Amino acid sequence: MTSPESLADELSRSGYLTDRRWRDALAAVPRERFIPGTAVAVPVDGSPRYPIDRDVDPGTWRTAVYTDTAIVTQLDDGATDLTDGIGDFTSSASAPGIVVDFLELLAPMPGDQVLEIGTGTGWTSALLTCELGPEAVTSIEVDEQVAKDAAANLQAAGLAPNLVVGDGADGWAAGAPYDGVHVTCGVRTVPHAWIEQTRPGGTIVLPWRPGFGHGHQARLTVIGDGRAIGRFSHGSTYMMMRSQRPPAPAPDEGGDWRESSTLLDPRRVVRAEAGAHIAIAGLVPGLFGHGVDGGRGTFQLWLWDGEGSAARVAYDPQYTRCGVEQQGPRALWEEMESAYLTWVEWGAPGRSRFGLTVTTEGHRVWLDEPARPLPVPE
Ligand SMILES: C[S@@+](CC[C@H](N)C(=O)[O-])C[C@H]1O[C@@H](n2cnc3c(N)ncnc32)[C@H](O)[C@@H]1O
Repeated sequence: MTSPESLADELSRSGYLTDRRWRDALAAVPRERFIPGTAVAVPVDGSPRYPIDRDVDPGTWRTAVYTDTAIVTQLDDGATDLTDGIGDFTSSASAPGIVVDFLELLAPMPGDQVLEIGTGTGWTSALLTCELGPEAVTSIEVDEQVAKDAAANLQAAGLAPNLVVGDGADGWAAGAPYDGVHVTCGVRTVPHAWIEQTRPGGTIVLPWRPGFGHGHQARLTVIGDGRAIGRFSHGSTYMMMRSQRPPAPAPDEGGDWRESSTLLDPRRVVRAEAGAHIAIAGLVPGLFGHGVDGGRGTFQLWLWDGEGSAARVAYDPQYTRCGVEQQGPRALWEEMESAYLTWVEWGAPGRSRFGLTVTTEGHRVWLDEPARPLPVPE
């Protein structure tokens, strides 16, 4: 029978849970209090999502709740009924493994004030409240209905952190200064308000999701002069912050496409390890892309920048070279190809050798130390 204890054991075995206080919090605030009767379970091992319904099949519902499974609680900002099961994921109870991993990365001390961005179901703020106390936790959620449900969940669990409905990109100045900011939605650019509202030496943990490839867990430390600096640790794929959702890809047809070809297999870039994707994000700012298997061994890579440039690269097992089509002022495939080969030339450094510096001027990715920023085009 799955339970808070069996979940904690699973997370200990998988290496996410090492700190006793989060084990105590997992037991004190059972996850089931935060999961609606009907939802969509998304296993972390990549197996297909499936609907859960407490009334119809309480066993399956409970197993999803007490295993390392993300549970989606809203589709398409609430426009699509959850029972349809198909739509963009826009709110969830994140998978317990990544929740605990982020809490351990934040590592708050007694007396710390923490701001959570993205209340969702309220479960993460419940765990924080259990550890730090209600006065120490503020959580902000952009979606009114989601915020209302979280408030009800927390109240039913007897917990009363400070809940705010609003855009987390602005932080919450009324509660500043914070010792930690715990971000539970993906961001491509770190809003500067979070740095301004955090004490020097304070921590911001976040899922960094550039427009292409893997998501990366980052732990930034605030310097106190408007900068925050830190490294990437593990992978993490969270739903994007509303205002930072990627622009739509360029339309398939129309426009003036320039044709060329390449010897570099685009699958090698898309399936490269995380370090390659961080290097590409740092060297080719503003790039969005995704790859699609086309059947019979074919593969297409789509790239765009949301400002009129786009590229598509087609791999076919029959070809020696891959066809490239590009349009707009930038040659996005050539920029990506050059960035990928630069990463190879550096000795293919892994994720943990990269870091990020955020200032009022923007973001710089660096390799090994902040004094070695990746060169960016003028
Ligand atoms: C993965 S869920 C959060 C999981 C949550 N922490 C939990 O414990 O259940 C991400 C949440 O971020 C919220 N969100 C997205 N953009 C936001 C923004 N700009 N400000 C605040 N919340 C936002 C979404 O509505 C969603 O509820």
